[in-house]
Amino acid sequence: MACMKNNTSKTMFLWLIFFTSLHCLSVSFEFQVGGNNGWVVPPVNDSKTFNDWASENRFQAGDTIRFKYKKDSVMEVSEEDYKKCNSTHPIFFSNTGNSLFRLQRSGSFYFISGVSGHCQKGQRMIVKVISEDESSPGDNNKSSAGSTIVAVGVSKLVFAHFVFFSVASYLF
Ligand SMILES: *[C@@H]1O[C@H](CO)[C@@H](O)[C@H](O)[C@H]1NC(C)=O
Ligand SMILES: *[C@@H]1O[C@H](CO)[C@@H](O)[C@H](O)[C@H]1NC(C)=O
Repeated sequence: MACMKNNTSKTMFLWLIFFTSLHCLSVSFEFQVGGNNGWVVPPVNDSKTFNDWASENRFQAGDTIRFKYKKDSVMEVSEEDYKKCNSTHPIFFSNTGNSLFRLQRSGSFYFISGVSGHCQKGQRMIVKVISEDESSPGDNNKSSAGSTIVAVGVSKLVFAHFVFFSVASYLF
């Protein structure tokens, strides 16, 4: 407080720490599949609904997707089973009505409904997860995916601020 010049360099140093820690946190996002409609049988003649939704979003390893549905289920299956709507041996299965799936790696994930006939009506989706080097830094164009993302993003920011000020009060 006594010395202005010193304070300025301290502030700059703290901002440096702040942005470095933000970067290292590698913010992950949560997406609600299908937006507000959730995981449902798409309307007639709109069988591309979920793939359209998926292609509008940028998924990165570590992100999660949430499936919300009633009297339905969700399965992760192989590409082959996706094409055939074959639900006999899923890699992942959930029918809780509110399923969270973490996209652990880059590459493609295939999802179908486990309810007979629903996959054939278009309730299926391919999620392509981009790898770290494909993603351009600072690209946060995820607005179309709903409000949960904003909430998650904000809470991460709050956490980053918390870390920042903890470090600041410890150092000075
Ligand atoms: C769906 O598409 C078919 C052919 O493209 C058309 O005949 C039918 O009327 C459409 N149905 C609806 C509900 O739009
Ligand atoms: C689904 O996959 C299983 C195992 O690969 C196979 O036995 C079955 O015939 C398949 N069903 C359909 C409808 O393709």
